[in-house]
Amino acid sequence: MVDYKKDFPILERFHYLDSAATSLKPIQVIEAEMEYYKEYPANVHRGVYKLSERATEMFERTRDSTARMFGAKSREVIFTRNTTESLNLLAATLGNSVLRKGDTVLLTAMEHHSNIVPWLMLKERVGIRVEFVELEGQSLDYEDFKAKVGKYNPKVVSFMHASNVLGTINDAAKIIKLAKRSGAITIMDCAQSAPHIKVDFSRLGVDYIAFSAHKLLGPTGVGVLIGKESQLEELPPFMGGGSMIREVSRQGFKPAELPQKFEAGTPNIAGVIGFGAALDYIKKVGFGKIESVEKGLLAYILKRARELGYIKVYSSQDVGNAVGIFAFNVDGVHPHDVSALLDEANVCIRAGHHCAQPLHSQLGINYTARASLYFYNTKEDVDALFCGLENVKKVFNA
Ligand code: ALA
Repeated sequence: MVDYKKDFPILERFHYLDSAATSLKPIQVIEAEMEYYKEYPANVHRGVYKLSERATEMFERTRDSTARMFGAKSREVIFTRNTTESLNLLAATLGNSVLRKGDTVLLTAMEHHSNIVPWLMLKERVGIRVEFVELEGQSLDYEDFKAKVGKYNPKVVSFMHASNVLGTINDAAKIIKLAKRSGAITIMDCAQSAPHIKVDFSRLGVDYIAFSAHKLLGPTGVGVLIGKESQLEELPPFMGGGSMIREVSRQGFKPAELPQKFEAGTPNIAGVIGFGAALDYIKKVGFGKIESVEKGLLAYILKRARELGYIKVYSSQDVGNAVGIFAFNVDGVHPHDVSALLDEANVCIRAGHHCAQPLHSQLGINYTARASLYFYNTKEDVDALFCGLENVKKVFNA
């Protein structure tokens, strides 16, 4: 058993069970960011001097590492601010190019707001139709998926790979195959899958994937959009400004080549360099290990939860097909109170609608409490969670 506490010192003091909101950052990532600011704090892609060249080299090194880890070409990797920005980029640019009034964008009933609201904005702006595939228990109803592809002939199918509330890992290969029946552009929100399971972009044959560095041991403020070169070439630019042009005149401009075409303005240089160190760390740990630790702990959580009569579990109990997410409610207690009481024992969880209000409505509730895992968690963290839940029961007489 590897002890990660030396790299994540906060684990000495807290039982951190909120990695689905943001992961902890190992000191290697913090030091990489600090080194940039101390040793070569210049802008990228601009300067013809040593400091700027080093910054550019380190920035582009992260792009190459991202491409290698996710099975893409470097020019297919776009740095944004977060998953939300990556998805907004797609909705906005598709809305300015291929999507027309009446076209359908097909989503699923488990989406995060960041894969709903940008499309609803497009519904208002362009008049597209937004439809949803229903659930069957904690999974997608694949028969409904098939039926909706047949009925609506969607131009875009955009879906989350793993749910931030249910933990369910959706069958990406099956969805992509179904979506291709109508020739749809496929988009996969990998915010909750990329940190936990191997995602191979080119092997899946999906058109776009999006995820955030900060859930993958990296800094906040760095998002990734990976798109097939042929698709990205067809899209118009998203934001205009410095870096994204080849040439500008008073009356026109020519966009830069990929990936710069989508990276207007000075990027989060320190963050991207820190993300490079995060990817090095992830590679060292390995997805095999990440999955086995998380699945072991999730099975243990679910076993402990089943032993208690006052907890209702909303997330998937199919451990083999889920990431480490445990969404639950304690009978008669608001999840904010559950979270606040757990906090007294330094157990950190998230409580609320987790930016998935339509899903919560579908489940017939407004809020859940959610504990979420990463490879640095231990059985002691889970034991602390359940010890805290006993206390919640005592205090609220649940
Ligand atoms: N989307 C992140 C979560 O589910 C922030 O917590």
